Amino acid sequence: MNILVTGAAGYVGSVVTERLLSEGHRVIALDNLGQGHREALASEAHFVRADLCDFAALDDIFSQHNIDAVMHLAALSIIPHSVEDPRTYFQTNIVGGLNLLNSILTHDVKGLVFSSSAGIYGRPENVPVTEDTPQTPIHPYGECKVMFERILKWYGEAYGLNSISLRYFNAAGATELHGEHHQPETHLIPNVFRVPLGKAEHVTIFGNDYETEDGTCVRDYVHVVDIADAHLQALVNINGARAKAYNLGSGTGYSNLQVVKMVEEVTGDSIPIIFESRRAGDPPVLVASARLARQELGWTPRLSGLEDIVKSAWQWQSRFPDGYSG
Ligand SMILES: NC(=O)c1ccc[n+]([C@@H]2O[C@H](COP(=O)([O-])OP(=O)(O)OC[C@H]3O[C@@H](n4cnc5c(N)ncnc54)[C@H](O)[C@@H]3O)[C@@H](O)[C@H]2O)c1
Repeated sequence: MNILVTGAAGYVGSVVTERLLSEGHRVIALDNLGQGHREALASEAHFVRADLCDFAALDDIFSQHNIDAVMHLAALSIIPHSVEDPRTYFQTNIVGGLNLLNSILTHDVKGLVFSSSAGIYGRPENVPVTEDTPQTPIHPYGECKVMFERILKWYGEAYGLNSISLRYFNAAGATELHGEHHQPETHLIPNVFRVPLGKAEHVTIFGNDYETEDGTCVRDYVHVVDIADAHLQALVNINGARAKAYNLGSGTGYSNLQVVKMVEEVTGDSIPIIFESRRAGDPPVLVASARLARQELGWTPRLSGLEDIVKSAWQWQSRFPDGYSG
């Protein structure tokens, strides 16, 4: 199939692109390179540098490439930035996303797979978090994901748009070629690596007085390759999918301290920790129930154990200590 991947030069998009190509699909890779990296894009993908907010550019892509389905990953996703500057977030994540949906409607596309997030659940009262947990986002980034999922629901009802939203918990890990390189980097594992790489003397952990076993936040890490596999499964199930939504997580939570310990084991380095006060908006525990994705999409996470995740991420990071250069 001809698949348009938006955000293809980003972390998850580069791995989704790699997996689609390996399954014989043709990938049209869209990115404005605002956050992404040209080198993260497989050479076999057809790269178009364009912005989601440029409706004419999007329309051109659909007119030229006979797109069968869309994987929509492009977004701004740095939570504290979304709090400081919601306007930019709504512009890209909602207005840009609507441009994409409106192009899809005029060009007879089978459907869309959307990168949603555990951020839609805010501070959930019960874990593991199921898909019917109330959606109470606590930052504009999470709000954008809720809004876009709702737009997909109404577009499904009114125009018959097929869509599947995949609500990732914490994406982590790497393939041989593609790994995590955000600027700024807010995710724990690449930040912990800065110590063994000689780029930092300690790692900062925000909060050690949460009501968890060791006092630090607990998160559900899901390997980026398992996330990419879920996109392939979503594609198989896209016909007739009216705004379906699935959690993607391993179902097991690890505390920040457990993650640091695993990095120590994998790298052989000891990692000094400095504790700072809690960050606004961090829920103590976020762990997914991904039962629905397993049952309905036939998704089986194969690599989402913490050790596999950290090992694969460290292999990539030690091969590319500065990440992508551009
Ligand atoms: N990484 C995670 O843990 C995680 C968790 C939950 C959800 N998500 C979602 O998954 C998706 C991918 O996340 P990621 O970590 O790979 O992010 P990323 O920042 O690495 O990739 C996003 C890509 O989108 C591109 N982009 C942004 N705005 C654009 C625009 N206006 N036009 C064209 N391209 C644009 C960026 O240049 C970047 O390459 C995002 O939608 C994110 O919200 C990620």
